[in-house]
Amino acid sequence: MDALDCIHTRRSIRKYEDKDVPDDLIKQILNAAMTAPSAGNQQPWQFIVIKDRVVLGKITEFHEYAQMCKDVHLAILVCADTTSLRHEGMWEQDCSAATQNILLSAHALGLGAVWCGVYPRDAKMNGFSKLLGIPEKIIPFALIPIGYPLQKSSKVDRYKKEKVHKDKW
Ligand SMILES: Cc1cc2nc3c(=O)[nH]c(=O)nc-3n(C[C@H](O)[C@H](O)[C@H](O)COP(=O)(O)O)c2cc1C
Repeated sequence: MDALDCIHTRRSIRKYEDKDVPDDLIKQILNAAMTAPSAGNQQPWQFIVIKDRVVLGKITEFHEYAQMCKDVHLAILVCADTTSLRHEGMWEQDCSAATQNILLSAHALGLGAVWCGVYPRDAKMNGFSKLLGIPEKIIPFALIPIGYPLQKSSKVDRYKKEKVHKDKW
């Protein structure tokens, strides 16, 4: 799959086979995440790999839009380490780039994934901090459940010419 195919055929996948994702694929996905661009290359991300099915199930108690965690065998929580930021106000963008790399690399590896928003919703951030023992200065940013897809990933065309401005607004 080339890069443009990967971008255009990636869809949010919320139904998965009852099957573990092997560690070598998880490592490739994390490697792709850490290759993302970041402000001044500050790389403020930390990742929590969640495979414990009991813990995954508990996520659904405080994240109403992450009910797919009842069935999934793997989720990655992207967090921001705010203790050593060199470029204030940029970590959200850095973590977004890492999150998108997770979605695209999972798709390229034949897996399905979905970005579940966490930051800046207090109840969801606190839910993860408590559930996973996350220290105070580490901010839970996004949860990405990942599994072998039971849904088809179809190409969509969202190009809208009225969204594009040439030389001025
Ligand atoms: C910041 C953000 C938060 C999102 N949160 C959720 C979520 O909590 N649960 C969910 O099922 N999908 C979530 N999504 C996925 C969107 O619903 C999805 O990307 C959008 O509908 C477009 O569909 P596609 O990803 O298949 O192209 C989120 C996406 C983003 C970028």
